[in-house]
Amino acid sequence: MSIGPILLIGATGQVGGETLPLLESCGSVVSLPRAELDLCDPASIRAAVRRVRPRWIVNTAAYTAVDQAESDSQTAFAINRDAPGVLGEEAVRIGAPVIHFSTDYVFAGDGTRPWSEGDPTHPLSVYGASKLAGEEALAASGAAHLIFRSSWIYGTHGKNFLLTILKLAREHEELRIVNDQYGAPTWARTLGQLVAHSVLRSEIQAHENGITPSEAIQPISGIYHACSAGFTTWFGFASEFVRLAQKAHPEQTYAKLIPVPSTAYPTAAKRPENSRMNCEKLTRTLGFEMPPWQDSTSQVMDELNSSTLG
Ligand SMILES: NC(=O)c1ccc[n+]([C@@H]2O[C@H](COP(=O)([O-])OP(=O)(O)OC[C@H]3O[C@@H](n4cnc5c(N)ncnc54)[C@H](OP(=O)(O)O)[C@@H]3O)[C@@H](O)[C@H]2O)c1
Repeated sequence: MSIGPILLIGATGQVGGETLPLLESCGSVVSLPRAELDLCDPASIRAAVRRVRPRWIVNTAAYTAVDQAESDSQTAFAINRDAPGVLGEEAVRIGAPVIHFSTDYVFAGDGTRPWSEGDPTHPLSVYGASKLAGEEALAASGAAHLIFRSSWIYGTHGKNFLLTILKLAREHEELRIVNDQYGAPTWARTLGQLVAHSVLRSEIQAHENGITPSEAIQPISGIYHACSAGFTTWFGFASEFVRLAQKAHPEQTYAKLIPVPSTAYPTAAKRPENSRMNCEKLTRTLGFEMPPWQDSTSQVMDELNSSTLG
């Protein structure tokens, strides 16, 4: 089965970069440079969608600079709220379903219970508020859609906690890492696999029932929590990958990691303490199981080690 065209927005990002080759193995993918599709510019979004006329729209792009968003809310809201709304409107015009990403930062983060999709939202930051507004704008457009709320995304490329701390751990004797925020580190590749799985599953359903992919997605349109299974803190996550790095490179000295409260590391944007999310709806509805965070961490470290050695 060859599917396409699939318009992938954000292919230079962590999730987009992992999604691109997986979608390319399903069909034809169009990924446009910023000059041809700028999420800050509704006219450029409309023109790109009308020109490509995609069968699917996959939006992995976002304004992801969480602290910077506090002083640049206009751009954050343009990209994270307005753009998904415009994409939804254009998707309705051509009958294409939209796959979009959101975040655990839509929640206030109180309590210890994992958040479910229906739980009340209360973002603590401009970034969280803009992403929540984007979920609402996409839903209000009437487009058939899947919104995957994920957390603590990392991988072998891009700007992420694992790569930053690994580098710092080689350069310093001690590193202080926050130990009172709880969540699930999620590998960008798992999210790429989830996107490809969702597209293929819906295409098969559409083919078997003589319906469009939009008609296959419409009854299950909505928000799905999609983060790794289990949970840890930033300190727990760092301890695990530094342990794996040390095991692979016994000759290298890594920093001693010291757990600290969030108050010891003030940031412009406030983060939720409890970012745990319940992913049962994802498994039940889409038949996709998120792996334990430790398994993904170990695979990412293996890839990093083999690319260093290679
Ligand atoms: N990172 C996390 O920890 C995290 C956690 C939870 C949820 N999420 C969500 O997951 C999704 C993927 O995140 P990620 O970490 O893969 O993001 P990322 O690595 O920061 O990549 C962001 C992507 O958005 C693109 N982009 C930004 N502004 C744009 C614009 N005006 N027009 C077109 N493209 C633009 C970037 O393009 P350039 O390369 O050209 O800048 C890049 O491809 C996002 O929706 C994010 O909100 C992320």
